[in-house]
Amino acid sequence: MNNAVTGFSKLSKEEKINWIAKEYFSTPSEAIALLKNYWNTDEKIQKLHDEFIENTITNFYIPLGVAPNFLVNGKYKTIPMAIEESSVVAAASKSAKFWSTRGGFKATVLNTEKIGQVHFIYKGDVSKLSLFFAQSKSKFFQDTESITKNMQKRGGGILEIVLKDKTDLLPNYFQLHATFETKDSMGANFINSCLEQFAKTLKEEALNYELFLETEKNIQVVMSILSNYVPNCIVRAEVSCPIEDLQEKHITNPQDFAERFVQAVQIAEVEPFRAVTHNKGIMNGIDAVVLATGNDFRAVEAGIHAYAAKSGQYSSLSHAKIENGIFTFWLEIPLALGTVGGLTTLHPLVKLSLEMLENPTAKELMQYVAVAGLAQNFAALRSLTTTGIQDGHMKMHLNNILNQFNTNDDERVLIQKHFKLHIVSHSSVVSFIENLRK
Ligand code: MEV
Repeated sequence: MNNAVTGFSKLSKEEKINWIAKEYFSTPSEAIALLKNYWNTDEKIQKLHDEFIENTITNFYIPLGVAPNFLVNGKYKTIPMAIEESSVVAAASKSAKFWSTRGGFKATVLNTEKIGQVHFIYKGDVSKLSLFFAQSKSKFFQDTESITKNMQKRGGGILEIVLKDKTDLLPNYFQLHATFETKDSMGANFINSCLEQFAKTLKEEALNYELFLETEKNIQVVMSILSNYVPNCIVRAEVSCPIEDLQEKHITNPQDFAERFVQAVQIAEVEPFRAVTHNKGIMNGIDAVVLATGNDFRAVEAGIHAYAAKSGQYSSLSHAKIENGIFTFWLEIPLALGTVGGLTTLHPLVKLSLEMLENPTAKELMQYVAVAGLAQNFAALRSLTTTGIQDGHMKMHLNNILNQFNTNDDERVLIQKHFKLHIVSHSSVVSFIENLRK
């Protein structure tokens, strides 16, 4: 079958669905019915979602859960989390509860600098380029005044623009490397608009610069774009308590637990295979809050993993120590987040999530996101170093299997009773259901 299509984006939503159903499904009517079953009955809400992207055919649900009892800097927070992985919200809630009676989470924003670059090619005398940049630098600020005016009113703007010689990496490659403060917005549009203006100014000023030879005047801008690597936009989250206070149901020997926990973190610090999974557990918490609050989780992921590799070797984002009988566990991560602009006002559930967090500033949101990441990491390491992860995971997974097999209420009661005492695995649950139905 030839599935190529022209003018697809111009088709109506119905026409798109009909085309897909006809091309790819043996029973088109079923596919159409399923897609439509996920449309919102409120036409206004559906239209809003249709228009977020191109070629929307339906909505793709991910549960929005909440993890209550997060004591962050002395205040209780209920943290919204959008995530499909069954154990994540339960783990966050458990960690939150655990630390709420042990001093809670302390979180601090260390800095908030964002970065953008104009990448360009200049073939000529480098000292002349440096002089040109020094003499024309104020023009870059002047030419972006209409863009920066509102941001300046909010206390943000362009912090600095630096010319960088990158010719050791690529022939004739230079950058304008700019830093920004974007206050409560993530700032992507603001930064990119400034950068595109910098690129224009750069080309125009170079054309009129008398000291340049004709060939030097022709600066080629390759691209102008923000960087999602923000190593100076860092938040730190921490928990700590005397070792003996760690005692609870699964931690009967707190000293032994604390030592094993620190070792688990040290392994992730030195061993990249473990570090990736360790950090994945942190991202379970981070992405869920980032998504629920309408922020760009791909940007956050890319930036955080780059930060985890800043020493040249991929390593743990979190750290732990025992000092003078005190157990301390913390992480530091880069986070470029916004609580205004973008989806934050458009998506009704994002608005609701932010309201649940009492309409935080971007700095406060950075703290909650980091705390969710640390809580998640604590829950994972606590399980891994005590009972093992599968116990809790498979119990949560049991529910997914029950849904998969459309079990009724009576079956569920029997299955859950049985698997309280027996090990859950996909095949053991399936054969139990099959026997039950014989
Ligand atoms: C699973 O989503 C996350 C963990 O693998 C994290 C870890 O191993 O630390 C449990």
